Formats: sequence, structure tokens, C-alpha cells
Amino acid sequence: MAEVKGQVLVFVLAIAFIGCVVSYDRPPVRKNISILQPKQFSSTSPQQVHISAVGPDKMRISWITQSSAPSVVEYGTSAGAYTESATGTSSSYRYLVYKSGQIHHVVIGPLDPNTAYYYRCSSDSTRQFSLKTPPAHLPIKFTVVGDLGQTGWTNSTLQHIAQSNYDMLLLPGDLAYADFVQPLWDSFGRLVEPLASQRPWMVTQGNHEVEKIPIIHSTPFTAYNARWRMPFEESGSTSNLYYSFDVAGVHIIMLGSYTDFDPDSDQFKWLQGDLGNIDRGKTPWIVALIHAPWYNTNTDHQGEPESDLMKQHMEVLLYKARVDIVFAGHVHAYERFSRVYNGQADNCGPIHITIGDGGNREGLAKRYMDPIAGISVFREASFGHGQLEVVNATDAVWTWHRNDDDVSVVSDAVWLRSLSSSPACKS
Ligand SMILES: [Fe+2]
Repeated sequence: MAEVKGQVLVFVLAIAFIGCVVSYDRPPVRKNISILQPKQFSSTSPQQVHISAVGPDKMRISWITQSSAPSVVEYGTSAGAYTESATGTSSSYRYLVYKSGQIHHVVIGPLDPNTAYYYRCSSDSTRQFSLKTPPAHLPIKFTVVGDLGQTGWTNSTLQHIAQSNYDMLLLPGDLAYADFVQPLWDSFGRLVEPLASQRPWMVTQGNHEVEKIPIIHSTPFTAYNARWRMPFEESGSTSNLYYSFDVAGVHIIMLGSYTDFDPDSDQFKWLQGDLGNIDRGKTPWIVALIHAPWYNTNTDHQGEPESDLMKQHMEVLLYKARVDIVFAGHVHAYERFSRVYNGQADNCGPIHITIGDGGNREGLAKRYMDPIAGISVFREASFGHGQLEVVNATDAVWTWHRNDDDVSVVSDAVWLRSLSSSPACKS
């Protein structure tokens, strides 16, 4: 670990040096990408494949076929040799004049940890996929990216993520930026499939997932809930919009910024129960994800109830439970805060990090408030992604990777110490 710490120190010094001598011109918005269905696909070809963790040793495989096909996944640890199979369910939805394909969800397992599996969907022999399960114990490496969208910058970010050898991706909302245009959900599914079919992508919702139109389509989250089903039942949640899970020694909490969060709400009560059930011996780290940031010195998205009211209601719960990190999106920039609680630096509060810079079509949020709040440690409006490597029960390293044109450059790096290992923060 000393070697890794040394490397991070070199990174930090190099960044400081480069920052002194090179000014970085922030690039403009890049064009939207639209990924069409490949011509060779039939109506029953599996497409838009993505996977998500379910419990300690299972994985949900999700995919879409244009017409009816069996909801079956065949899998095994050797390419082409499928020793196991599992059956699930499929459904479709309507949104105005759009009708989705058949959306399949199949849970496979039990699976061995940190192991490669090969699989195929709907018994289609023309497309074989592979995945790697997360490790059962630390260390584990997460990629964190928000407000991804589907532009040339998204492509750049995805290429950098592909090189990062991560175990699991965490996404704090705003996926496709379909914004009512349902074929864009299909395009997004195709865009992320090469990565999302290989490693679990665990997501929560943002404002661009709501897609509610008064009277015409009054049900929110129709496409999101149908396409991106997450393991909510396993954590006692009654909604796909908030849930939690354990992975390798980290308890991950996905909160819903766009569903009820007041003290009488189901989400609030569920969160209270969930935080009360955490075994810090088993999961010494706690990480929470929201969409609208509770701390933000950018001029964008100030004063929104999803930020201010949710913080007012729920911050004390996360503080008392000694949550280590809160990731947010929504603001299209990167910002890292100190440990903070109730607006003040607090050594027992979570570190808040805004990572809403995945590459969406709305562009960067470049204007910041002046003066800088004392708790904002690093902020920059550039596209990029983050990596959280939890090394052991006490230490983790966080790096933010800026898309410097098309090269991934580590532009912020910090070592973190878990609150569960701090005698002064024993809860
Ligand atoms: Fe957003």
C-alpha cells in the first residue's frame, strides 16, 4: 500500500506542477450520438444488455428483444460451455405512441466472487457476453459517473472507464437524457452495452428519468423502472427508486431525489431502518448516492427542493450513521468537499462529491459562486469520471479523471480514512 500511496503523492505533486504552468481550455459541447440497431440483428436478437448485482452472489441480466423471445440466460465459466441456465420474466411498456420491445430480466446464480462467466440471452447463439463478478472482500474498485447522456464526450468518458479495470459502476442519476423521446433510451442501451454487459452498473434516478407529462402520461419513471430494474426488494425497499446493498465490505445506499423524502415518507422510514441494520464489522465503509447535491458552490441548481429539503430532512440520518462519502450528480461539473455536516466542516461527516460530468448534451456548468465556501476543496467544470478504490477497512483512494481532450488525466486525488476506524467518530 505504501507503494500506491507514493504513486498518489507523485500524482498530486505532478498535478500541482502542471496546474502552475499549463492553462486548460475547456472544450465545447460535442454532438449527440444515436446508436441504431445493427442491420444484422433479427427481431429476437438480444440487445441493450446490462447487468446489476442482486444480493451477495447473484446477478440480474437485463436485455431487450424487439419481438417475443424466451427470458432465458445460459451461463458458465468457460466460453461457449453453458452448464447452467435461469429463467426470468419480460414485459413491455407504452409511452405515448411508442411501444418498447420485450424487456427481459433474469437473475442468475449463485455465482463465485471475482470470477469470469460467459453467458448468452434468449438462447441466441450469435451473441455471447462475459461478465466478472465483484470480489467478496476488499479491495474493490468502483467507477463513479453521473449525468452520462449520449454525446461525443460520453463516448470519451466510456472509453476511459473501459480502461480502468473497475469491479462495479455507480451512477448517481441522469442516464440517457431521452427526455420523453423513447428511442433514445434504446440508443443509450446500445451505447453502454459493451461496458454494462461486463460489470454491474448500479444506478439511481435523476430528473431526466422522471418523464412525467400531466394528463397525457401521468406515471413517472416508466422507462427507467422498466429498463433499469435494481435490487430494491432485497434491502426491504418497496420502490425501485431507492435501495441498498453490500459489496465486498462497502454498504452502498442509493437514494431517490425525485420521490418523497420527508419524515413521513416510505423512503425516509426505509432509510432509518436500513442505516440501523448496518454491520460495520462486515461493511466498514458506507457510501450513499443522490442526484441533486446537498452541497454545491456552482451557480447551477441552487435552491432546489431536491437539494435543500432532502438535505434538511435526511442529512442528520447519514451523519449519525457515519456515512463516509455522498456522491451526487445533477451539476455538470466536478466538486469535492471536505467532511461536512450542517454546512460546517466536521471530521465525522461525509465527504460530498459532485460527479455530474459524464458528458451529457447540456454541456458544462462553468460558473461558480464567489467567494469559495471554506468547505469546497476542489472544483472544476470539465467532463470526466471518478474512481474509488477501497483498499481495506480503513483506507481508500479517490481519483477524479478529467477528459483532457480525449486523454484521461488524474486531476484530483485524495486518500480517505473510514469513519468506522476513527475513535473520535464512534457512533
Ligand atoms: Fe439532473
